[in-house]
Amino acid sequence: MIGVGIIGLGTVGTGAYKILDEHGLLIKQKTGIDIRVVKCADIDPDRPRDIVLKEGLLTNNAFEVIEDKDVDIVVELMGGIEPARSLIRHAIEQGKWVVTANKALLAEKGDEIFKLAARKGTEIGFEASVCGGIPVIKAIRDGLVGNRITYILGILNGTCNYILTKMTLEGMSFNRALEDAQRLGFAESDPTLDIEGIDAAHKLCILVRLAFQYPAVMSDITTGGISRIDPIDIEFAREFGYRIKLLAVAKEDRGKIEARVEPAMIPVGHPMSSVDGVYNAAYVVGDRTGPTLYYGKGAGGDATGSAVVSDIVDMAYRIRNGAPAAKIPSTAGKVKMRGAGKSSVPYYMRFTAKDSPGVLSKISGVLADYKISISSVIQKGRKENGYVPIVMLTHEAVELNLKEAKAAIDQLPIIKDESVYIRIEEGNQ
Ligand code: HSE
Repeated sequence: MIGVGIIGLGTVGTGAYKILDEHGLLIKQKTGIDIRVVKCADIDPDRPRDIVLKEGLLTNNAFEVIEDKDVDIVVELMGGIEPARSLIRHAIEQGKWVVTANKALLAEKGDEIFKLAARKGTEIGFEASVCGGIPVIKAIRDGLVGNRITYILGILNGTCNYILTKMTLEGMSFNRALEDAQRLGFAESDPTLDIEGIDAAHKLCILVRLAFQYPAVMSDITTGGISRIDPIDIEFAREFGYRIKLLAVAKEDRGKIEARVEPAMIPVGHPMSSVDGVYNAAYVVGDRTGPTLYYGKGAGGDATGSAVVSDIVDMAYRIRNGAPAAKIPSTAGKVKMRGAGKSSVPYYMRFTAKDSPGVLSKISGVLADYKISISSVIQKGRKENGYVPIVMLTHEAVELNLKEAKAAIDQLPIIKDESVYIRIEEGNQ
């Protein structure tokens, strides 16, 4: 028997518990291993849960779980940096194997945790930390191990994807779509981590570590959120044949990697453009496989619990066979981060400009000064107080040049309001 202890019996903890309880026999048929939850801890043991726990199984003291001699695998599902970090450290020190869904912790303190686990000969399972029920960690780490990964596109945050989908398909404003997401329980009452792209950036740190063997931290990821996306830009994107998504992007080119999470345009017809609602997806390109695609539920007790259980079963095999812990992600990659502002992609730009002769040439003159070439222009929509939206798509432009050109254009007297620019990710790297 392999004993499991769960710390944090909230949505995901309860989901994982139920799978092990209700599918225990199925898992035993598939693996030949008897896996049982022997101890759980939660800060609030009395909160209502739709599971019936044996007398004495649940405590409010996490140390009782870690130190229980029948617990082989400690599952940390409380989230946040502390006390999760100290508890995981304690579990590793005790020689326990650890499963966690804690993306913030792995993004901020991944090196510390992984190194300690390697030193102690134990292991950290983190399938549940990225894309909930989609086995994307195993896909990159195991399934694609024979590949050099060159490109990852991710829709890693269901809350943002839900909001952008509502804005795109139903013409909702950002605020209404957010309220809708909160009413349905997809968004937290404080949605900052999700809508500002931080949750997705945490997840991208983890994917970059696995895909490029590089110990990415949050400061390596250029991060932006969706709160400033205006329905008018969604409409213009549609006219140009694009959808706006909160895209996590990581690419490697000649030893330099670039990683970012921000709203970007993706061509209609690219598989990632039709990932809608709360669903997540990852599009991962290997140099031997070419593009591969993973799609499913990125959150929720059952889906994320399923990922937790997959790590538990993986470890149970090795524990039963007396095999050493194996899967500490390597950071032996030879890649470096590309310097900030040096990446080059096409851009969408929207200016609110005076509707009078010579305006277009003034804007395009500044763009030319910064070596930015225009691929198309439209001027459309209602004139308001003499000003109209002018929308341009550029050819590939260096990010820094683009930002400087935008700042210079915003100084022109013909411009009202701050101009908008959005990256275009053609998705065919
Ligand atoms: N808050 C996340 C999301 C789910 O909206 O996708 C947990 O990672």
